[in-house]
Amino acid sequence: MGKNSKFDLLLDHVIGIINNSQNKYKKLKSVCEFLKNNVDHYDWVGFYFVSDTKKGELVLGPFAGESTEHVKIKFGDGICGQAAEMKDTFVVQDVSKEANYLSCSPKVKSEIVVPIFKNGEIIGELDIDSHQIGPFTEKDKVFLEKICELVAEM
Ligand code: SME
Repeated sequence: MGKNSKFDLLLDHVIGIINNSQNKYKKLKSVCEFLKNNVDHYDWVGFYFVSDTKKGELVLGPFAGESTEHVKIKFGDGICGQAAEMKDTFVVQDVSKEANYLSCSPKVKSEIVVPIFKNGEIIGELDIDSHQIGPFTEKDKVFLEKICELVAEM
């Protein structure tokens, strides 16, 4: 198996979910559950959506994993809010070293946040927490950015 095979197979399955006939919320929830259940280092997977661009606020959408108190996050706050301001994927391999971090659970050790763009504007994010330190590679980034491009077109 080539090095990309695992993520290629996962991406095919995600495309299948996105193309099924359920409503958008259910499809996104299924994507979260699929990712959490099929990638060892993904322990919490969720979407945040920009509720009001002028207000600069993210609101939690479908997710898989423990419930979180961080249902609304202002741009600039935490890893999610910083990714929204930077308009770029933000990987934190060790959250204990990130001062601007909103903790959901002491079990979380690292996080990746990938923005979702539509017509050049950020409309949301895919947020993944891991219980491992330093698990994310360039392959996770490429894989998750592809998923976000597909979600933007839904
Ligand atoms: N840790 C995030 C908050 C959201 S939770 O991970 C679900 C942050 O620092 O923005």
